[in-house]
Amino acid sequence: MKEQGGYSTKHMLFALSTSMFIGFYVAQFISNMLISESIPSHNIQEEKRNNNFSLRTCTNPDSVPDHPFDNSIVADQLRKEVRILCWIMTNPNNHKNKSRHIKRTWGKRCNILLFMSSEYDDELPTVKLDVEEGRVNLWRKVKEAFKYVYKHHYNDADWFYKADDDTYAIMENLRYMLYPYHPMTPVHFGCKFKAYVKQGFMAGGPGYVLSKEALRRFVVEGIPSNKICINDTNEFEDFEIGACMENLNVTAGDSRDWNGRGRMFVSVPQDHLVPDRNTGFWYWNFSFYKNDEGLDCCSDNAISFHYVIPELMYTMDYLIYHLKPYGIVRELHRLPAKLKVGEFLPPPIEEIANSNEDSMDDDDRKH
Ligand SMILES: *[C@@H]1O[C@H](CO)[C@@H](O)[C@H](O)[C@H]1NC(C)=O
Ligand SMILES: *[C@@H]1O[C@H](CO)[C@@H](O)[C@H](O)[C@H]1NC(C)=O
Ligand SMILES: *[C@@H]1O[C@H](CO)[C@@H](O)[C@H](O)[C@H]1NC(C)=O
Ligand SMILES: *[C@@H]1O[C@H](CO)[C@@H](O)[C@H](O)[C@H]1NC(C)=O
Ligand SMILES: *[C@@H]1O[C@H](CO)[C@@H](O)[C@H](O)[C@H]1NC(C)=O
Repeated sequence: MKEQGGYSTKHMLFALSTSMFIGFYVAQFISNMLISESIPSHNIQEEKRNNNFSLRTCTNPDSVPDHPFDNSIVADQLRKEVRILCWIMTNPNNHKNKSRHIKRTWGKRCNILLFMSSEYDDELPTVKLDVEEGRVNLWRKVKEAFKYVYKHHYNDADWFYKADDDTYAIMENLRYMLYPYHPMTPVHFGCKFKAYVKQGFMAGGPGYVLSKEALRRFVVEGIPSNKICINDTNEFEDFEIGACMENLNVTAGDSRDWNGRGRMFVSVPQDHLVPDRNTGFWYWNFSFYKNDEGLDCCSDNAISFHYVIPELMYTMDYLIYHLKPYGIVRELHRLPAKLKVGEFLPPPIEEIANSNEDSMDDDDRKH
């Protein structure tokens, strides 16, 4: 597999850390000032009772600066090189109590963020699609949303990610996974399920990402043809688009990391780390690849989770982007080489399932 050497900016990291210490106190002083000025007087508990809590006191994206002295050189570079349009499947009931919190957490890290609904909402804002609400219309809504995206944003992004309003995604890791692939390769990625579609289909909850060429095929060749993409009223949008992708010769990509661990998940981290197999969680029956539990369940570069309530979105944001064990700075893996159109990475090394044990961490493997 790929060489796991340190990133070449190591010495730069060191230089940066010196200025970080100086900057730290200045930054903290400024952010304290900003936070104390911006804490609004309303009560979170009351907002929750009214079903419209905003958690402004926890994260007001306008006033709490991200850590300005973090070294995000590589993430910033990928943000420019691997442009991702995200669109969120939502509905008028959820604008205020779900979608709003995506915008305030992970959604702001997409290159373009769109909310697809059936009503306007200036706050998000939403794209009003001409589709009635209700589960049974989900498939029609997916098609209308991708048609809109193709018409208005085909040239503004390289990859097109559909997520639900209870999905949480780590955009930096989505870009890292997609980095080697050429956007003109007909491919899509997600959490692959082995059912109904020969090559597998991507479960809807964790979201799925279409390459530019996959989007073009879907909108230009698939949707207009009743033979390639079925034209009916149907709630199983993930299965239908999976069938469509297969008919369009769009490969169902492998979203596992080089270690064979999953990166896109149908439930919250807890359900994958500490699953209750006795409950017959349907995930175990459908997952395309073998899966493990404990720390072996999930990649250190996981991309997305599902059934994430707003409270957990803010918690995830805190755990991923703020909380850090002092003194530990993880080395970056070298970016893989870019692939040509139609080329794919080799499958990861399969490891023997080793239940409830962090058998082989990324760092163990290096030594
Ligand atoms: C939240 O709900 C309360 C009661 O329904 C309402 O008075 C308030 O304006 C709402 N706030 C927002 C930000 O929507
Ligand atoms: C959001 O509000 C709608 C009603 O407007 C309600 O049906 C739904 O359960 C609420 N969702 C959450 C997560 O609170
Ligand atoms: C799909 O069905 C809808 C509703 O019946 C219709 O308006 C539309 O033209 C159909 N599209 C195709 C490609 O047949
Ligand atoms: C998919 O590939 C097969 C075999 O190469 C070909 O016959 C078929 O026309 C292709 N379908 C589309 C929609 O491009
Ligand atoms: C999963 O598969 C097992 C055995 O193959 C079966 O007993 C169980 O009913 C299945 N569970 C679900 C939720 O489909």
